[in-house]
Amino acid sequence: MRRGIVLGLTAMLCLGGAMLGGTAQADSRKAVKAELSKPVVRGGIVFKNYCTLCHGERADGIARAAKLYGVANLAIKPATAEAYFEIIRGGGEAVGKSQFMPPWEGELSEEQINDVVAYLRVVSDAARRGEVVFKTNCILCHGIKANGKGRAARLYDPPPADLTHSDKNDDYKRMIITLGGAAMGRSEFMPVWGEQLSPQEIDDVVSYLRTVLVSD
Ligand code: HEC
Ligand code: HEC
Repeated sequence: MRRGIVLGLTAMLCLGGAMLGGTAQADSRKAVKAELSKPVVRGGIVFKNYCTLCHGERADGIARAAKLYGVANLAIKPATAEAYFEIIRGGGEAVGKSQFMPPWEGELSEEQINDVVAYLRVVSDAARRGEVVFKTNCILCHGIKANGKGRAARLYDPPPADLTHSDKNDDYKRMIITLGGAAMGRSEFMPVWGEQLSPQEIDDVVSYLRTVLVSD
């Protein structure tokens, strides 16, 4: 029965190959192979297989198991390749972080670790860009640590929000940043950014804000 299916499939594939024409099929195979030879693409596959359960599909910490590890923010923060290597090889405990981040040395090959680091460098780009947007526009009020303690903070009542403890979701943040506080029934001193920042910059800063959350 199994064998029958396999034979049938093989026959179909051969037929398909014949219909596509040998070169077209070879071309598409070559394209897949070229794609898979990119470290970032291979790293994405490693990440999907081993890391999404805790870190989420987009490395943003929104994941099924994230709640189990309560106190930690599982969004992958922008960091140097060296810092990524260290925690991925040795695990969280080795770098003074959560023991729930397992060590992967031994489990993953050197090549897989290289690839997943290449992938993380790319996916954390949005947050990295967003950090620049934040530091350029927001720290006067929200503070360099995003904890609401900027130099101008005491001028405002209510004070600028402590973004490290925000209970608002990404959509809400995108809206209040774009439209300003007044449009959301909040303080008019939270400025309207929709005219000064592009939608991309606003998305990036929202990505960055995920990485500053702490729960204590
Ligand atoms: C069982 C859950 C779990 C799995 C699976 C897991 N991690 Fe983690 N990871 C954690 C926890 C918990 C932390 C610690 C967060 C902290 O203490 O700030 C962490 C932290 C990290 C950090 C540092 C984050 C930062 O910005 O400080 C990186 C990088 C990382 N993990 C990469 C990976 C990669 C790559 C994989 C897959 C190969 C993976 N993790 C799989 C739970 C997990
Ligand atoms: C002039 C001061 C000021 C600047 C600059 C400023 N904010 Fe605000 N922001 C506020 C104030 C004040 C609030 C609190 C509004 C309230 O509670 O009614 C706020 C609230 C917020 C909130 C809502 C958070 C929550 O949990 O409810 C977000 C998100 C936010 N700001 C993001 C930003 C970002 C991103 C920037 C930079 C692009 C920025 N803010 C720049 C003053 C400022």
